Amino acid sequence: MKAIFLGPPGAGKGTQAKMLAADQSVPHISTGDMLREAVAKKTPTGLKAKSYMDAGELVPNDVIIAVVLERLQADDCKRGYLLDGFPRSIEQAKALDGKNQSPDVVVYFDVDEETVVERLSKRRTCKRCGAIYHLTYMPPKQEGKCDKCGGELFHRSDDQPEAIRERLRVYRKETAELVDYYRGAGVLTEIPASGDVEEIHQGVVKALGLGGESDS
Ligand code: AP5
Repeated sequence: MKAIFLGPPGAGKGTQAKMLAADQSVPHISTGDMLREAVAKKTPTGLKAKSYMDAGELVPNDVIIAVVLERLQADDCKRGYLLDGFPRSIEQAKALDGKNQSPDVVVYFDVDEETVVERLSKRRTCKRCGAIYHLTYMPPKQEGKCDKCGGELFHRSDDQPEAIRERLRVYRKETAELVDYYRGAGVLTEIPASGDVEEIHQGVVKALGLGGESDS
């Protein structure tokens, strides 16, 4: 199954995608994670993307679309995948459609802006394995250290108040219209995303038709 997680920054897409990928052994393709890795390694893509990401702007389509389409050709995507953070505009959605990669299902995480600002301002991410924490709702056992791998936790540079505001503005302007685009295509499922993580996970499992049981 080809699935897309859609929603504003901080809606919990990454948290839920990682849970699902672990449960269902489906490749989790996060464009944000791919770009952050490219920035850390100072690859040509990373060097082009960095200033846009720090400012909360979208990375230009000529940088991101080719990277994603190439990733979807990999063997592990043959039986399906979970796309998180792509598409973010109608143009990106059409790029998928044009390569016979239209989604079977799009899960839209419906959450208000106040909640996402609160979530993003206290997010911490593991530098080594990418695990996601929240200082209040999902705190690490030991301050500054990842429970899973002992890696160092960091505060994303785009989780500062000004960049968060810009990301929300960009979301409203460029990305929100994808909700209607995919509703029109008959593949959109909306889930309320302001509850707790496990409740939302059950909603996602149901939305994807994966049955009621999960072992998390
Ligand atoms: P990206 O990394 O994709 O950022 P995003 O879409 O803004 O999404 P986030 O990662 O901020 O949020 P999330 O929904 O995954 O929430 P999370 O699970 O972490 O993109 C970053 C940048 O890369 C973009 O700004 C852009 O520059 C560039 N980029 C990426 N894709 C691109 C594209 N296609 N085109 C162009 N540019 C692109 O959760 C957030 C916090 O909330 C965490 O602390 C978590 O612990 C907590 N939390 C999660 N769920 C709950 C819950 N139920 N209750 C309480 N807390 C919760």
